[in-house]
Amino acid sequence: MAEQRKKLTISGLFKKAAEGKPITWLTCYDYPTAYMQEQAGVDMILVGDSLGMTMLGYDSTLPVTMDDMIRHTSAVRRGAPNTWLIGDMPYMSYQPSVETAIRNAGRFMAEAGCDAIKLEGGSAVCDRVRAIADAGIPVIGHLGLTPQSASALGGFRLQGKTAETAKKIIDDAKALEQAGAFMILLEMVPDRVCKLVTERAENCLIMSLGSGPHAHGQLLIYHDAFGLYPKFKPRMAKVFADAGAVIRSGLESYVKEVSEKTFPAPENWFGMADEEYNELIELLEEDQ
Ligand code: KIV
Repeated sequence: MAEQRKKLTISGLFKKAAEGKPITWLTCYDYPTAYMQEQAGVDMILVGDSLGMTMLGYDSTLPVTMDDMIRHTSAVRRGAPNTWLIGDMPYMSYQPSVETAIRNAGRFMAEAGCDAIKLEGGSAVCDRVRAIADAGIPVIGHLGLTPQSASALGGFRLQGKTAETAKKIIDDAKALEQAGAFMILLEMVPDRVCKLVTERAENCLIMSLGSGPHAHGQLLIYHDAFGLYPKFKPRMAKVFADAGAVIRSGLESYVKEVSEKTFPAPENWFGMADEEYNELIELLEEDQ
């Protein structure tokens, strides 16, 4: 049995950042991967609504429901009981009203055992952020490329390239912090914009996904970092181990060995004692 580790707290996360130690964060959607991530010492796990693409095969995150999120987040919690766990509010789980936002954020905490929730957007969602934080639920904001608004943003592309759009991201980050977000994820913004946001953050941790090294920590999508998403590989994702290639090769071996009758081998099946077998044959003969 692997040794249980101590779960970080919010103040532990701030302490880590203050000591200049980057916070490690990965997405995860299932029990066995959560188990491995916790064993590897990942600080935080995000059950992202990206599971719509990585696990359910949709072309976007938009069809993902709260029930999908709760099912996957609960499985991840069972695999990683001692890791900071964040539930990602799916499309239309917080946009319709403040009340909807509080209710669904509460589901992540009560039904899936989350430590925090994440939602997308800047000043437009500050009333939701404030209300959820006031309900005692730690909130993480998400700026830059926000996949739920990919259509309005012109696709999955770098955000904040111009001075004007970068200023909006910096203003939105401050607004989220003032509304009560304790952490903000910057996805696909230029490194210098991420640095400016990080330098301006007073009581808020800034995390980078494809936004350079100047944040308090890094997030990657697990499937991108381990070669498990066949449709495309974003430039920001380094492949740390090509698990996809290992699994594909194993699958080819399975098909080959079954086809060639080299699997199963005697160690893969169970025998029966001669005495019992002979008695069985006698019983069958009596039946005839
Ligand atoms: O759903 C998700 O995994 C996310 C990341 C893209 C940050 O929100």
